[in-house]
Amino acid sequence: MTRDDRQQVPPDQGDGGNFPKNTPVPFSSYWKLRADTIYLNHGSFGPPPECVRQARAEWQRRLDEQPMDFYLRQYEPAWFAARERLARFVGTSAENLVLVDNATVAMNAVADSFPLRPGDQVLLTDHEYGAVLRIWQRACRRAGTEPPRIARLPQPLTSTTDVVDTLLAAATPATRLIVVSHITSATAVILPVAEICQAARQRGIAVCIDGPHALLQTPVALDQLPCDYYTTSCHKWLCAPLGSGFLYVAPRHQAGMAPSVLSWGRGLQEQHRDWSDEFIWSGTGDPSAHLTIGTAIDLFEHLGVEEFRSRSHRLARYARQQLLALADRPPLVEDSADWYGSMAQMPLPRVDRQQLQTRLWQRHGIEVPIIDWDGQSFIRVSCHLYNTPEQIDRLVAALRDELPGVAMSPP
Ligand SMILES: Cc1ncc(COP(=O)(O)O)c(C=O)c1O
Repeated sequence: MTRDDRQQVPPDQGDGGNFPKNTPVPFSSYWKLRADTIYLNHGSFGPPPECVRQARAEWQRRLDEQPMDFYLRQYEPAWFAARERLARFVGTSAENLVLVDNATVAMNAVADSFPLRPGDQVLLTDHEYGAVLRIWQRACRRAGTEPPRIARLPQPLTSTTDVVDTLLAAATPATRLIVVSHITSATAVILPVAEICQAARQRGIAVCIDGPHALLQTPVALDQLPCDYYTTSCHKWLCAPLGSGFLYVAPRHQAGMAPSVLSWGRGLQEQHRDWSDEFIWSGTGDPSAHLTIGTAIDLFEHLGVEEFRSRSHRLARYARQQLLALADRPPLVEDSADWYGSMAQMPLPRVDRQQLQTRLWQRHGIEVPIIDWDGQSFIRVSCHLYNTPEQIDRLVAALRDELPGVAMSPP
């Protein structure tokens, strides 16, 4: 990977509907993906590029060849260096972050540490990830308080003010916490998290942002975002190894934070200085994914973060335009980079979700999620740098094949 590789990349000339069909995609050479698959589901599980796989393998080699030296002498300095690199990328001080396996671990730590009491309320939107809802259902049950309240956001989502007002209208004087996605999973919508945090703060409500889709797809500048907690996975759009994520905790909440899995904490000598120390050692494991986050950041800073955003959004927009021919109703958001980034979600006629998803894979070699949400069917297409307009065309052709009964406009 050199600067010269990047200079050989011809710039895209088109956008949306006239995306140039024969654009070479040299970026795809950064990944080794199975040749029999059109992979349009980076949003669920993002495959790591080759340089990230190699960097992780090097950490694993060091660990496996001399575990004592690795755990006792190499691990902690490498952990602090990885955290420092990540902190620069997400615009905060390293002291506000801990490295964890994924957004789920981070969200559990928040749920286990947040001081909920009987009578308190937790508020989510109807776009939240199912596992996140389960985490908060359990936390509320354990606290002896009512299940999380769910604010139904407007459909379609047309204005930031509407989203913020609808969400905050569902809050009551008992609401202690709002849990909201930065970019939603099933619906692929960028939510106005900064405005939600500001409105919540005026009401004295804490906000936990669930951010695994946001890293790289959209700017994340934590010190400028007045949130209380931010949970994320680095293995989605940022392409760090599977099993890497972080938890951000605003300084005012750090004293109350503890990991869900308690072990020795920092160093086996229990020399704890601050909240993050408890998260450094959570039992013997393979922390190579955490230590490789910086390699993924280096790659995208080299390729250009803005270049990634504009390329992947153009392709998502192209997918949206092509899939519109199959839709039986309007999309949830208008065609704007304010509302969606590298993932596009489009309505489908009511289908058997599992059957269609399996047939797309088995008969066409296409991995793409078909989604049931709010009693409706949708398709969600993820566009990373290894995806091409030709793959979108193959998807649309496969859907025409599999949905013959659906009235569709000509291509
Ligand atoms: C919005 C959202 N939150 C949380 C998660 C959980 O992420 P992970 O499985 O990496 O912990 C996901 C996973 O897809 C997600 O989409």
